[in-house]
Amino acid sequence: MSGNILVVDDDPNVVEILSESLRNKGYSTVSASDGEEALRAYDEHRPDLVVLDVVLPKKDGFAVCDEIRARDIHHDVPVIMVSANGINDSMVRGLRSGAQDCIKKPFSVKEIVAKIDNQLMQAQHRRDLREQNLQLEDEIERGQADYSRINRELKKRVLDMRTLFGLSQDLNRLRDPEELIRVFCLTLVGQLGVGVTALFYAFDDVDDFLSYAGGSGISDGVLRSVRLSREIALSKHLLAKQNVARLTDEDLPGDARREAEYLMRFGFDYAYPLVVKSRLIGIVFIGQKVNRQDYSAGDIELFKSICTSAATGLENGRLYAELQSTYLSTIKVLVSTIEAKDAYTRGHTDRVAEYARMIAEEMKLTKREVEIVSFGAALHDIGKLGVYENILNKPGELTEQEWEIVRSHPEVGANIIRNMKFLESACDLVRHHHERLDGKGYPDGLCGAQISVGARIVAVADSFDAMTSDRPYRRAYSIEESIAQLKAQGEKFDQEIVAYMETLVRKGRLRR
Ligand SMILES: [Fe+2]
Ligand SMILES: [Fe+2]
Repeated sequence: MSGNILVVDDDPNVVEILSESLRNKGYSTVSASDGEEALRAYDEHRPDLVVLDVVLPKKDGFAVCDEIRARDIHHDVPVIMVSANGINDSMVRGLRSGAQDCIKKPFSVKEIVAKIDNQLMQAQHRRDLREQNLQLEDEIERGQADYSRINRELKKRVLDMRTLFGLSQDLNRLRDPEELIRVFCLTLVGQLGVGVTALFYAFDDVDDFLSYAGGSGISDGVLRSVRLSREIALSKHLLAKQNVARLTDEDLPGDARREAEYLMRFGFDYAYPLVVKSRLIGIVFIGQKVNRQDYSAGDIELFKSICTSAATGLENGRLYAELQSTYLSTIKVLVSTIEAKDAYTRGHTDRVAEYARMIAEEMKLTKREVEIVSFGAALHDIGKLGVYENILNKPGELTEQEWEIVRSHPEVGANIIRNMKFLESACDLVRHHHERLDGKGYPDGLCGAQISVGARIVAVADSFDAMTSDRPYRRAYSIEESIAQLKAQGEKFDQEIVAYMETLVRKGRLRR
């Protein structure tokens, strides 16, 4: 064993013999002959163990032991008390003072060396344990920090997932690309804290250019004049990469770099391509975060996911609109085949749809409501497909039975479109365009507010066109005469709507 032992005894013989023996065993020693000297030696030499006589001048062994313990709170330095009195009393008092062991005078060198070896080993053991403890505490602390970090990341992921879920629901619900783009930009601002963002979009699938479609944090006017080619430069690079690109990226080819440098003037830093079935339908640009912090890897992933949802939503909207317009044109063709056989009603459907749309816009209805009104007006007489041609074109008076067939056209029309998902919003307008405010209309005899605003608009537009058209039995009325007739029939027509129509005539916007 090795170590530095402080031997404290007022008997120089004991000190000498013990020190000599310990040195022979490989220890180094220092010594003191009274209590105060013992503490000074302790402070100066920082021994590994103290052999301490109980009876000492100036300060007894118990008091010295107390003070050593005050200096060595971890009990790294064992104290062995040496007592000439009854071992039991000294043992108890010594242990109370914090001594690790006691030995009675006279002792054999062999015995005390064995105790010293044992105590030094135990002290080493305590130090090792304490070291391991500290390491474990450290690991736990690091583990807790990791746990908190993982927990924070998980919470953010859950939040991101909710955002994405909410967004994709919104995007599936929204058919209007303008509204969809507005929600998309707001999401980028809200979720990622982007300062500026803009979407360049190919409004038509055959467009060669991407045009500014919406954004945030930047004046629309500046960007409206910017058009990006869909085939070359940055578009080509992004389509090939299908990932986020930094506009300062070294690997941008020359033409893409020039375009990127131009776009950086607007404060954009990153670009991401909206790709659907290998076609580039748009590019999203974002600038720095409002708080000027860098985007984390998680931010970039969220950005890409939001963009992908938007791309899907925009594409769905486009397909929906295409399908709707294909449907509408098919139906218009069908309706025009009826009109084509009757010179007097030729173009009737188109005119009614146009008048109804203008009235709805004049009434400041929402964009969606205007759409439904013009859609319903375009379909209003579709039920005539089910009315025999010879009745529709009969020059003379109709029999009551024939009138019944003619009057069935709103109901037949509503039944035709009822099961077509895209057309269902127009169903009510088709069914009720011959209802009257006084309840004497058909097919349901609805009155007043029971008739929807849309159906009331179509009723006015429909009658206006009939009045301003030639009939086999009369000439067309003038616009002024027709308006006067509509005004005179308050029991049939909504006079507020007639007033809007009159305003359009006065503004010169509504002509025959
Ligand atoms: Fe009709
Ligand atoms: Fe009609």
